[in-house]
Amino acid sequence: MDYPARVKIVDVGPRDGLQNEKQPVPAAVKIELVQRLQDAGLKEIEVTSFVSPKWVPQMADNTEVMAGIARKSGVRYSVLTPNMKGFEAAVAVPRECWPDEIVVFGAASEAFSQKNINCSIAESIARFAPVVEAARAAGIAVRGAMSCTVGCPYEGEIAPERVDYLAGLMKSIGVQRVDVADTIGVGTPLKVQRAIAATLRHFGVDEVSGHFHDTYGQALSNTLAALELGVWNFQSSVAGLGGCPYAKGATGNVATEDVVYLLQGLGIDTGIHLEKLIDAGQYISEHLGRPTQSRVAKALMAKREISTTP
Ligand code: HMG
Ligand code: MG
Repeated sequence: MDYPARVKIVDVGPRDGLQNEKQPVPAAVKIELVQRLQDAGLKEIEVTSFVSPKWVPQMADNTEVMAGIARKSGVRYSVLTPNMKGFEAAVAVPRECWPDEIVVFGAASEAFSQKNINCSIAESIARFAPVVEAARAAGIAVRGAMSCTVGCPYEGEIAPERVDYLAGLMKSIGVQRVDVADTIGVGTPLKVQRAIAATLRHFGVDEVSGHFHDTYGQALSNTLAALELGVWNFQSSVAGLGGCPYAKGATGNVATEDVVYLLQGLGIDTGIHLEKLIDAGQYISEHLGRPTQSRVAKALMAKREISTTP
């Protein structure tokens, strides 16, 4: 099997991972998490979202977090902006605090679109179009997240034709790359491959990323299935943090540590230092007061303990 020679990972932990936390996580902790992720070699970090603080209170400190991170050259920082209000807030700061990339986020399922962003798929595209135009005019890259590409918490299984439709709409408004998201982690390899194949009708393989939640424990298999199609961009959360507030019962993204371990085993370069990444995951897990969801982190930390026990 010919896998890609390298893989780029966006760690979405500070955004997707923390957006659902009930207890407020201080901005200083989010900033420290971003620092630790970039120190571990992450080249892309999804930092926060500019959404309604009434809908997602945990992301209300978006401007403070974006202003507080110590930018590292070569690292790309992205934020979610679902509408012009969000985009304007993201750039209502000195240029050095702007995101490098904004993310508009739609869904292949009508019901999820309504629950998540309070509008239909067609309306969402109409809202995204001026955001995409303004971002590109300002020299900011644009990614489109596509939720529920295999399953929806409200509509059940989603056919690849729906993904094809959404990907076509994303392309038509100038989105530069898209995430094929399994929001509730129900996907299995063939279904995920079909969703990716539908997306590849509109975007090149370099412009497509896999965003897999791990609710059913399938995310690593789905990652491998995406690699088989040549996909080499993925999103994951350190310590497997997270879940979407509008996808009840769905757990976090696949843990970045687990993806890195898988890729190392395949001889695929990520530029990420696994031990430092585990420390970053431990930092945020300790803050949240619960164990990491990463199997690899658990195993390697247990090994560390054994080797330091006299
Ligand atoms: P709406 O209520 O339809 O918007 O919300 P509206 O334009 O009618 O405005 C209503 C109020 O919201 C007004 O305030 C606006 O000012 C305010 P009020 O007058 O009532 O005080 N408002 C905003 N405030 C701050 N920032 C904004 C903004 N826009 C309006 N950008 C909206 C539409 C999209 C804003 C809302 O539905 C929302 O914030 N939803 C949250 C969506 C979200 O963050 N979901 C989680 C992230 S997506 C995800 O996790 C999936 C992903 O990981 C991929 C996957 O796994 O599937 C990406
Ligand atoms: Mg997600």
